[in-house]
Amino acid sequence: MITVGIITASDKGSKGERTDKSGPLIGEMLEPIGGVVREYMIVPDEREKLAEGLIYMCDEAKLDIIFTTGGTGFSPRDVTPEATLDVVERLTPGISEAIRMKSLSVTPKAMLSRAVSGIRKQTLIINLPGSPKGVKECLEVILPVLSHGIGILK
Ligand code: MTE
Repeated sequence: MITVGIITASDKGSKGERTDKSGPLIGEMLEPIGGVVREYMIVPDEREKLAEGLIYMCDEAKLDIIFTTGGTGFSPRDVTPEATLDVVERLTPGISEAIRMKSLSVTPKAMLSRAVSGIRKQTLIINLPGSPKGVKECLEVILPVLSHGIGILK
């Protein structure tokens, strides 16, 4: 079993003005590899609130993996990578590089994602884009190696 946290970064979603499709999709896609969603938050695009959510899921809930969705682009409100860098202790650039490399063969707009990933204590944190299409394409790249990576973290 892999314990999963999902943080959707969305101003509109956090106010109930938009239904989040990407967060639930992440949970569905992780089921086949034994992923169980333990925590799910929709947080406004604010660096401190995102960092607080990440720290809670790492230090209190002690989850194996956290996915963020959204807030990785160029809009002034897009601060998910900065919040992630605020809390991780070690970077895992290979994951984000692989996602961007594969995504570029689908759309050149993949270069507009500033997504990062890293490790805090025993939790892996991975930024994904906000759209369900982006989530699906990016998760497909890393699903085959996730169990192995998480196993080494313990
Ligand atoms: N990656 C994949 N695989 N598929 C996509 O459709 N969308 C891109 C990019 N990465 C996309 C993708 C777009 S259009 C943007 S603006 C950035 O992710 C940032 O998205 P975000 O701000 O929703 O996080």
